[in-house]
Amino acid sequence: MRVLVLGGDGYLGWPTAMHLSARGHEVMAVDNYLRRNLARETDCEILFETPNLHQRARLWHQHAGREIAVRLGDLAEWPFIASVFEEFRPEAIVHYAEQPSAPYSMLDRSAAELTLKNNLGVTFNVIQAMSELAADAHLVKLGTMGEYGTPNIDIEEGWLTVEHKGRSQKFLYPRAAGSLYHTTKVLDTDLLWFYVRVWGLRVTDLMQGPVYGLETEENAGIEALYPCFAYDELFGTVLNRFIVQAVAGYPLTVYGKGGQTRGYLNLKDTLQCIRLSIDSPAAPGELRIFNQFVETFSVNDLAEKVRASGARLGLDVRIGRLANPRKEMEEHYYNPAHTGLLELGLEPHPLTDEVLDGMVALVQRYSNRIVPDRIFRGVAWRK
Ligand SMILES: NC(=O)c1ccc[n+]([C@@H]2O[C@H](COP(=O)([O-])OP(=O)(O)OC[C@H]3O[C@@H](n4cnc5c(N)ncnc54)[C@H](O)[C@@H]3O)[C@@H](O)[C@H]2O)c1
Repeated sequence: MRVLVLGGDGYLGWPTAMHLSARGHEVMAVDNYLRRNLARETDCEILFETPNLHQRARLWHQHAGREIAVRLGDLAEWPFIASVFEEFRPEAIVHYAEQPSAPYSMLDRSAAELTLKNNLGVTFNVIQAMSELAADAHLVKLGTMGEYGTPNIDIEEGWLTVEHKGRSQKFLYPRAAGSLYHTTKVLDTDLLWFYVRVWGLRVTDLMQGPVYGLETEENAGIEALYPCFAYDELFGTVLNRFIVQAVAGYPLTVYGKGGQTRGYLNLKDTLQCIRLSIDSPAAPGELRIFNQFVETFSVNDLAEKVRASGARLGLDVRIGRLANPRKEMEEHYYNPAHTGLLELGLEPHPLTDEVLDGMVALVQRYSNRIVPDRIFRGVAWRK
């Protein structure tokens, strides 16, 4: 299949491009380096340099003998995205191309505006481009489990049947996001659902939890093919950050009571979920929603696991308790369904001691690159 990977330079986008290419798909990766530029502007550079997207594609070709086409430009600009669709005529589109950080979206007015306009702008353009230039294509869109928030009832996979005064109707599951970034994902879902209803688009919206990890089948041991690994407060995901903190001897940044519970998954499982979604597409006029995670942990669980891993590897890991800069529940009920991707064939990689120790050992190789000032700055969810 011809698969367009939007946001193909990102933490998930580059591994996805290689993974799909390795399985025989024709892949085009598109990016505008927003992530790299924001990291530079906010002094949130990643743990180690990664080659640019053209260089990555060349390295992949040398390594695997397969081509990944690369186009650079802003997908929120209509002429650019239209030219990409016209040239490539995708059969499947993986849409990662958004500003993905909750704290960045809460930093100040201009960061909030960028997040809102960029995320909605790209999603809107993808919808328009599909309708005009790739009507039969299947969109695999990255949402987030954060769309649901932390309701006091079980979280279903995307939809909830409501019985009301003797009648019943299926609705999108109620959403209550905890940051502007997460709210843009809610708005994306609403926009997609509207165009699925009126234009019959085929869409899979993946409510993904925080991802951890670095190595995949395609890049194992080849540092130049690793994805960008952020450990700063703005762009790093929690387990990746805790591992770097452990290696740096920085007390793990647990916010408040640490009972915040979320669904997590290994980068390897993100790749499986995307591939499985592409291989069994949504039907025309279907908004299919999967909850994309493998296991749930509280922040305290993760901190304890990292401390134990550190102890096994000779590190003295301390757990810090910080006043919570976010507005969120620190102890809550959390029971989300996640059977859809398992039914499609997902074979999860759980967070075993071995997996965690492997990640800590890998990060130890880069310990001299860690800049402790990047670890915590306390972006507050102020009024
Ligand atoms: N990483 C996670 O744990 C996680 C969890 C849940 C959901 N997600 C979602 O998955 C997607 C990918 O996440 P990620 O961690 O790889 O983020 P990332 O920032 O590393 O990747 C996103 C890529 O999209 C590009 N991009 C953004 N706006 C663009 C535009 N207008 N034009 C062209 N390219 C643009 C960025 O430059 C970046 O390379 C995001 O939508 C994110 O919200 C990620």
